[in-house]
Amino acid sequence: MDGDLKKQSRAVLGSVRALLEELSEEGLERIAAPTDVADPPSPINLPAQPREAEERPPIADPAPPPSPAPVSTPGPQDLGLERSWGASPSLEEVREALGECTRCPLHEGRNKIVFGHGDPDADLMFIGEGPGENEDQQGLPFVGRAGELLTQMIEKGLGIPRSSTYICNIVKCRPPGNRDPLANEVSTCRPFLDGQIDAVKPKVIVTLGKPAASLLLGHDVAITRVRGQWHDYRGTPLMPTFHPAYVLRQYTEAVRRHVWNDLRAAFERSQQGSET
Ligand code: URA
Repeated sequence: MDGDLKKQSRAVLGSVRALLEELSEEGLERIAAPTDVADPPSPINLPAQPREAEERPPIADPAPPPSPAPVSTPGPQDLGLERSWGASPSLEEVREALGECTRCPLHEGRNKIVFGHGDPDADLMFIGEGPGENEDQQGLPFVGRAGELLTQMIEKGLGIPRSSTYICNIVKCRPPGNRDPLANEVSTCRPFLDGQIDAVKPKVIVTLGKPAASLLLGHDVAITRVRGQWHDYRGTPLMPTFHPAYVLRQYTEAVRRHVWNDLRAAFERSQQGSET
């Protein structure tokens, strides 16, 4: 293979890898092998690939994964779960109501409940998916590698202390093997997430990754489509962005720029009307 061909092949492989990463972030679990294609196209005959992920046209939503996805889950009132707090609870009240929770099977494998952390009066609230191993050990959200990146984005990027924000997850116990939380686990934990939102009353919510965006927007979303756009969650402006773990996997300039723009927009909006 001459040098140019090698370079072209590497570029195509890089684009395919980026596309697969993105599809996987969207929930695609496998791609069916073509059955009646005579000759697969040679990579060098493929149409020119855009250089960066964000230049691609939006990707069609893949079919929903076979396991129940954490979307369109009923609200607490539909589940008959009583909220033991009013419209304006304190975080302590919500935490106390959660207790040493055994409401869903996730409690069986957890080490520590990861309720949430940060300023109870934060203007900016981040919502991830669920605790990983480090979080489960420490009882704190986003303290592993993805958490380090999130912290850097907040502190170096936005120039504010992480402790001035509030960070939590959809589910408060680590799903085994870091799998996605199941619909029943999400719906069981959801009243407590809503309680946290009602307690903190952030000016802006930032959802990190597809599951959190899908849950709060009430339908299965393609994160590449909804990120960077303003949405609303029960009257609070909501900005979905990529999950920091995805940014770590897909560490391209384009992905980092997207997240940076999303966080900047979220922060600026959270500060509107706050200047003295
Ligand atoms: N990923 C999440 O979604 N939440 C955490 O707390 C850590 C990693």
